[in-house]
Amino acid sequence: LEKTLILIKPDGVQRSLSGEILTRLEKSGLKISALKLLHVNEKLAKEHYAEHEGKPFFGDLVSYICSAPIIAISLSGPNAVEKSRSLIGKTNPLESEPGTIRGDFGLEISRNLIHGSASIDDANRELKIFFSENEIIDYDKSTDSWVMEL
Ligand code: RTP
Ligand code: MG
Repeated sequence: LEKTLILIKPDGVQRSLSGEILTRLEKSGLKISALKLLHVNEKLAKEHYAEHEGKPFFGDLVSYICSAPIIAISLSGPNAVEKSRSLIGKTNPLESEPGTIRGDFGLEISRNLIHGSASIDDANRELKIFFSENEIIDYDKSTDSWVMEL
């Protein structure tokens, strides 16, 4: 089953939106396969955001993600990457549709509440940064066949 990495960023945790954000993602049918609260250090932040190194916002992005605890989540399900990106909305909350997480709760690109992996390859790389193999759990739910055609 496809998996994606979600991060509820420091602003999401500080604004007490963790539950609301997770509720929206979970209600789609995507299944929580790992979850933890952690305070990211600079090394981890730079590894996660390696693709943005050298861009003008890189320094601010790294200090933002390290500024307070975040919640890292692995979500599993059919097309988990694309589905969660669609629930999250565009990178800039100003351009995110109402009904998306960033569209409903965000104002600025540098405080956009949540991260979702952009591709399956990114997801596999990023999940390894935040979780060891034994922390990601595949399990059945009695509702699986109501969410997915098995
Ligand atoms: P994410 O990786 O966090 O899910 O967001 P994304 O794919 O929608 O956006 P991406 O292009 O990967 O950018 C990563 C994060 O960097 C911050 N950013 N700031 N000030 C700026 O122009 C700017 N551009 C990007 C955002 O926090 C974005 O989520
Ligand atoms: Mg990205």
